[in-house]
Amino acid sequence: MTTEMKHSKSEEQSALNHTDSGSAEHGILMYKPLESDKAKPMGQGLKYFIETWGCQMNEEDSEKLAGMLKGMGYEPTPFKHQADCIIFNTCCVRENAELKVYGNLGMLKKLKEKNPEMIIAVCGCMMQQQGVAEHILKRYPYVDIVFGTHNAWKFPEYLFQAKRDKVQVREILSDEQRIVEGVPVERESGLSAYVTIMYGCDNFCSYCIVPYVRGREKSRTPQAILQEIRELIAQGYVEFTLLGQNVNSYGKGLEEPVSFAQLLRMVNDLPGVRRIRFMTSHPKDIDLEVIRAMKESEHITEQIHLPVQSGSSRILNIMNRKYDRETYLDLIRTVRRELPGVAISTDIIVGFPGETEEDFAETLSLCEEVGYDLAFTFIYSNRNNTPADRMPDQISDEVKHERFNRLVEVVNRKAMERNEALVGQIYEVLVEGPSKTNETVFSGRTRTGKLVNFPGDANLVGQFIPVRITRANSFNLYGEAVEHSS
Ligand code: 5AD
Ligand code: SF4
Repeated sequence: MTTEMKHSKSEEQSALNHTDSGSAEHGILMYKPLESDKAKPMGQGLKYFIETWGCQMNEEDSEKLAGMLKGMGYEPTPFKHQADCIIFNTCCVRENAELKVYGNLGMLKKLKEKNPEMIIAVCGCMMQQQGVAEHILKRYPYVDIVFGTHNAWKFPEYLFQAKRDKVQVREILSDEQRIVEGVPVERESGLSAYVTIMYGCDNFCSYCIVPYVRGREKSRTPQAILQEIRELIAQGYVEFTLLGQNVNSYGKGLEEPVSFAQLLRMVNDLPGVRRIRFMTSHPKDIDLEVIRAMKESEHITEQIHLPVQSGSSRILNIMNRKYDRETYLDLIRTVRRELPGVAISTDIIVGFPGETEEDFAETLSLCEEVGYDLAFTFIYSNRNNTPADRMPDQISDEVKHERFNRLVEVVNRKAMERNEALVGQIYEVLVEGPSKTNETVFSGRTRTGKLVNFPGDANLVGQFIPVRITRANSFNLYGEAVEHSS
């Protein structure tokens, strides 16, 4: 049965097929649900399952895919084997993210044999790499649909065609100049929402594949962003994380350019907004105006993600980061001076080509000096066709792992010190829900984004309550609710 399907599918591919050019049109396109869904929703009585790898951008895209599926009548299921439609939203920023996708795709074969009507779709950053979509369709013939990062909003069309014509559907665009507004979003949390403010990245750090798979920077208009947040407030959301690969270059290409600092202030002024977070800030672009906006705006939280990548100016230069160790440390000093109690997080790569023991020692000493609240640490991974991939002096796996372990020891110790210093203090916590392991323990986050666990009850969910910190480790805080009048 599977062989037959394989045969017919590889011969009959969808007319949509591979489009190498992106859309040359500019402007805004409004999302429209399928006409055919109005009469009888395509997914009535059916279930979907979405697995997401990678960053918050991918999470947000998956929330849109879920929104479109719900619009078609599908309901979510936490189990793959119950799903009628499975979507894998992939990441390719490091090799291990890709390997996980391939491993998981292999496991879907049995499910498809049991339920041949099941639709399997693969999308996201991996699909934007040359040859990957073709490889997946061939090697995993039970995959029905592949699409890329620029056209996820067309998913209902692809689904319709795959179901009706029983062919493999694929469409990958190399870039997209338009911004699509009005795609329905199905969010995981009812309190805290990601809001994308810009797409793509123009920075071309020499190790990074993102600019190739996410395309050039383009900003949503402030009107569209504020409208989305107003609607979310009406639904009960209170916390908003503004997302972009480099939020500090927000607004440049707009007809009426608006700076990121101005946007932050506009969001802060919306009635009902309680907390604003944002990521990611490129250290080369963040300016005093943003720090001033953070300082002067009640709802912008004291939290900032400033990926350093390396503590060595020599390596930063080869990484094409456009700042050096000293300017980065100056920035950290300014941020700490202007925003007392600020939590600073970062991303760090070890084992970049040519990284010497001295370079790495500079990364360690920078981490000691800054004392990050949280650091995401990565082992350098070669990405095809990036400049770093072609650089000499690639570091052996053994050395990379050994450096990685030393780095983790330092960042965890510093994070622990930062968290322990909070013991005894009282912080405002937005209560999110019961903890994963114990129903009488509740979790929430401080303004600085730290996760706090404390004994509580379901009535507290959605409230901002004061919690006294009693204990800390490198990643979490523990505490007890303090009497308050809400
Ligand atoms: N290898 C390892 N880490 C990488 N990152 C991006 N590209 C690579 C790569 N090729 C890390 C950077 C970035 C984070 C999202 O992923 O630290 O900030
Ligand atoms: Fe990648 Fe650099 Fe762009 Fe971040 S800023 S997405 S690391 S190219």
